[in-house]
Amino acid sequence: MVTGKGGTGKTTVAAALALALAEEGKRTLLVEVEGRQGIAQLFETEALPYEERKIAVGPGGGEVYALAIDAEKALLDYLQMFYKLGGAGRALKKMGAIDFATTIAPGVRDVLLTGKVCEAVRRRTRSGAFVYDAVVMDAPPTGRITRFLAVNDQVAGLARVGPIHNQAQAVMRVIKSPETAVHLVSLLEEMPVQETVDGVAELRAADLPVGCVFVNMTRPALLDRESVLAAEESRTEIAKALSRAGLGGARRGGKAEQLVDPLLRQAHEHAERVALEGELRAELAELDLPTYELELLPEGADLPGVYRLAGELREQGVPK
Ligand SMILES: Nc1ncnc2c1ncn2[C@@H]1O[C@H](COP(=O)(O)OP(=O)(O)OP(=O)(O)O)[C@@H](O)[C@H]1O
Ligand SMILES: [Mg+2]
Repeated sequence: MVTGKGGTGKTTVAAALALALAEEGKRTLLVEVEGRQGIAQLFETEALPYEERKIAVGPGGGEVYALAIDAEKALLDYLQMFYKLGGAGRALKKMGAIDFATTIAPGVRDVLLTGKVCEAVRRRTRSGAFVYDAVVMDAPPTGRITRFLAVNDQVAGLARVGPIHNQAQAVMRVIKSPETAVHLVSLLEEMPVQETVDGVAELRAADLPVGCVFVNMTRPALLDRESVLAAEESRTEIAKALSRAGLGGARRGGKAEQLVDPLLRQAHEHAERVALEGELRAELAELDLPTYELELLPEGADLPGVYRLAGELREQGVPK
């Protein structure tokens, strides 16, 4: 499960992870649950139906499938599975029972979504092998993830016996097993780091398995504070070097010295950002979780960009 503050790159990182995990001969499934067709957009395909589709081949040679889970269709699946309500399910739909189940009782909606994912996780071929070697979920954001995952516990508690109870318990067993991990995407900015720290505490308190932290959109550190201070003491040398490089002399009345102040100002700002990022990295390090860094892609996270991030994950040792 890939969670994180809104806009930090959950969808992008989940896609990169699914690609990275698709080694030769393996098959991964990338799932989205928010009905936004983010995966289809990223992979430049038409909107995904409620059906698993092969959408890519990972850099390691394995296959990536994708699924956009629709809560309403998942409910029909579910009724079919437990109550054998084929045609009756369609009648229920007309009566608005599904609207009730998925809108009025939002907890039921989450049970259906996680239930469908767990079904894909546990599904086996006739020969007994798992159909998917890994299932990656583009999950709801940090603020909602704990409730989203723990809702099965509540449902299992509400319905004490029967198929709903058993289903909710089976789902919870998968979610809490060591095979599941909730990964958090963060940026080196104060709000996302704070949300990551809070999110990890919440997940741990709910006894949910926390995986790793993806620090997304990192930028290279070019200068630290010491280098900036050192540069300030070498203003004349800098000006001379700028002249030698043919900079600062072209404009009429322009002198290389006039470039030094704005350049140093920029260098200061950069050094301050690097220092702040250092503090935020230290805060994340206190979580004591494996951490992966993903660079800020200059062209944005388009499809080639996602492959590049998948490559970075493979170099750093893909989290399982
Ligand atoms: N490493 C990166 N480098 C450059 N751009 C990135 C990177 N990761 C994500 N982006 C861009 O940042 C934006 C947000 O990414 P994404 O949609 O994956 O975030 P999200 O957490 O899924 O957002 P939401 O909360 O809306 O679902 C997108 O425009 C995406 O292309
Ligand atoms: Mg998203």
